[in-house]
Amino acid sequence: MLHVNENYAKIKPTYLFAEIAHRVAAHKEANPEAKIIRLGIGDVTEPICPAIVAAMHRAVDDEAGRENFHGYGPEQGYAFLREKIAAVDFRSRGMDIEADEILVSDGAKCDCGNIQELFGPDVKIAVGDPVYPVYVDTNIMAGRTDIRLLPCTAENGYVPAPPADCDADIVYLCYPNNPTGAVATLAQLQAWVDWANARKALILFDAAYEAFIRTPGIPHSIYECMGARTCAIEFRSYSKTAGFTGIRCGYTVVPKEVCAYDAAGNAVPLRPMWTRRQTTKFNGASYITQRGAEAIYSPEGQAQTRATVDFYLENGRLMKAALQALGYEVTGGGDSPYLWVNVKGDSWAFFDKLLKEANVVTTPGAGFGRAGEGYIRISSFNSRANVLEAVERLKKIL
Ligand code: MLT
Repeated sequence: MLHVNENYAKIKPTYLFAEIAHRVAAHKEANPEAKIIRLGIGDVTEPICPAIVAAMHRAVDDEAGRENFHGYGPEQGYAFLREKIAAVDFRSRGMDIEADEILVSDGAKCDCGNIQELFGPDVKIAVGDPVYPVYVDTNIMAGRTDIRLLPCTAENGYVPAPPADCDADIVYLCYPNNPTGAVATLAQLQAWVDWANARKALILFDAAYEAFIRTPGIPHSIYECMGARTCAIEFRSYSKTAGFTGIRCGYTVVPKEVCAYDAAGNAVPLRPMWTRRQTTKFNGASYITQRGAEAIYSPEGQAQTRATVDFYLENGRLMKAALQALGYEVTGGGDSPYLWVNVKGDSWAFFDKLLKEANVVTTPGAGFGRAGEGYIRISSFNSRANVLEAVERLKKIL
């Protein structure tokens, strides 16, 4: 008899954003005329910038001729992209990361979800609460249910300090944070790096929203901390940086020093293991995609992608100001595309109210964990016209 992976019975049957999509589809079916504004899942709306489009067109032309045709690429990513990443995202900011420590992929979600395959079934995990559900669900799917929750609250600015008795082997940190939009200071991240080095633990640092940081001094990478090379893996994504949610590309940094330990206590470097995993199960992001990603690092690409991120940040500023004027406590925005709104009540009920009465989609905080109850997350990804319209509708019903 075929035995199912019973761990799937321990997670919700539907992924958070799929559940929201079902509810929105049902609402649309019942109200076909409704003009729905989607501020739920963080999905970009603005077109890919011209420098990237031009690079992708050139790459398509490469594939059209024998001379520059590309079949399978290197599974770790093309050197032309990995070298740009190391130079621009890290070395230009004073971080010592080499191109061969970067593995290009089809996005941070897959890498965040797949990385747990490298660790034993019994490792103890710590995550923030609320948290991006991928970290938790992928560990439970693999049978790891021993998960410590680190409360992220208004009191600690949504940045937990390592608890003195924290016995986790792995901690997931995401800053700028999804879902709360909070940012961590260098000192706060350094405390986690020191904790991890002291107990031979690992930090899985999700920096998917790094491009939104505007406040000087806020760290863009875990590798700005002293000693992070020995205890941290970092995930980056072009989804929000450059509008690649549909194109799919990101990367993971695994420094040569980062290790886990075998039963005899011997250090086992994780970079060769992740390379082994990726080369076995993944054939790389497409050549056309990686040429597009490379163009993000050109002077035009940097200016154009920054302008789009600024546009979303302005959306957030407008919505935050309106909600605060209505009397709501709002965290986030400023250095993040997400607003975390204290609705002082049931978050799914508030979600339903906004959907039914304003045709505005948000994300209920409870979907990110127990400590998310009482909040909703609003995404800044939309056109200006829709954001202004959403603000008007919220003013009417709240
Ligand atoms: C989100 O809305 O939290 C993200 O867009 C989801 C994702 O990146 O998977």
